[in-house]
Amino acid sequence: MKITVIGTGYVGLVSGTCFAEMGNKVTCIDIDQSKINKLKQGVIPIYEPGLEAMVIRNYDRNTLKFSTKLSENLDGCDIAFIAVGTPTGDDGSADLKYVLQVAKEIGESMTTPLIVVDKSTVPVGTADKVRATISQELENRQVTIDFDVVSNPEFLKEGDAISDFMKPDRVVVGADNPASAEKMKQLYATFFRSGSARFIAMDVRSAEMTKYVANAMLATKISFMNEVANICERVGADVNDVRIGIGSDSRIGYSFIYPGCGYGGSCFPKDVKALHRTAKEHGYEASLIGAVETVNDAQKLVIAKKVVKRFGEDLTGKTFAVWGLSFKPDTDDMREAPAIYIIKDLVARGASIKAYDPKAMHEAQSFYLKGVSKVTYHNSKYETLPGSDAMMLLTDWKEFRIPDFEELKTQLKQPVVFDGRNQYDDKAMKDMGFEYFQIGKQP
Ligand code: UGA
Repeated sequence: MKITVIGTGYVGLVSGTCFAEMGNKVTCIDIDQSKINKLKQGVIPIYEPGLEAMVIRNYDRNTLKFSTKLSENLDGCDIAFIAVGTPTGDDGSADLKYVLQVAKEIGESMTTPLIVVDKSTVPVGTADKVRATISQELENRQVTIDFDVVSNPEFLKEGDAISDFMKPDRVVVGADNPASAEKMKQLYATFFRSGSARFIAMDVRSAEMTKYVANAMLATKISFMNEVANICERVGADVNDVRIGIGSDSRIGYSFIYPGCGYGGSCFPKDVKALHRTAKEHGYEASLIGAVETVNDAQKLVIAKKVVKRFGEDLTGKTFAVWGLSFKPDTDDMREAPAIYIIKDLVARGASIKAYDPKAMHEAQSFYLKGVSKVTYHNSKYETLPGSDAMMLLTDWKEFRIPDFEELKTQLKQPVVFDGRNQYDDKAMKDMGFEYFQIGKQP
């Protein structure tokens, strides 16, 4: 099929590249000329394992093209995916200005019948707005061209995006017109064995809702466990054991019940907020969903609170080694990362920070921690240790899992570790002589 993907952010670039990999003719569009120029040279704006090689391979074999001109890439196109950003507006709702701007341009320039797909995470009712915008433009042009608007939310995880896309758990398509659902089924048929139950068709509004509910449910599991962890600490229980104890119940399961220093990223914080807001707009106070966010905001500072309890409110003259800045491993993404909040809190109390992250240091330096004084960046995890009063593990990168504990102990001024991801064995740490603080268990 001939496909146009508008927006070369995470979702757009991964989707476009994977559709191209399956032999479709894909053009990825972005208004950012320098980004498009770089993509043509095989320079990928994000870190995502496997993506760069796939982009280069498909660009070379002509299944993947890049352009800044949407109007030149709609003629004869079967499906246009809208995958532009939906940032959080001041009131917590998703800001649709980019999505509707693209819809307007599609209406202004489409020449042949088209299925327009909302791939961005958009609130319930957005497809109707996209449809109305395109219709208005066609009316202005006084032309009649067949089109339909379909919702096809994306469920990929950063760091696993390629495999999530190529081997999806499920593909959700919301289409009110059966012919559009059928066309989408054909597009995704290459990703499944025929007759797979993993292609789930429903009406447009249910598909739009499914995306938010999936993320809000996962975020709820995390906030629930973080709350349980905070109770465990106070009653003398160990959340690590409690987690295994409840996860063994197949109705609960083990996934997404790891306590930590709070969820971050571009999706959970934004989507939980937006769902809460959508409910409010429809006259319903979704108190549980609101609480998921409140618990998470507080959880991001739990590690900082432990540091203060151990070293005092005034941290002047203290230095902390930070291992991990990104919101999760295998990405350079620092959006809403707990590290931002923890580091700023400690610096405000007078501390200095020696940070290391395998991928996110550039992001930190140039944007998320730009201008935050007293933060230095180091080339390896061990370089952060000399002169530091304690080490703080904030992202569960694999390379932090089994460090050289002897080096960790001897290089730090004192063997104190704050673990925001419960990566180490409590007893083993103590036997090695560490003062070990983790989430959900008293030291
Ligand atoms: C999330 C969803 O998992 C994807 O299914 C969804 O498609 C995506 O959002 C999206 O809406 O685009 P992502 O934000 O990449 O994906 O990250 P996750 O792997 O889900 O992790 C989110 C956060 O939760 C991280 O900060 C992670 O450390 C935290 N987390 C995760 C926990 O604290 N505990 C857990 O048990 C699991």
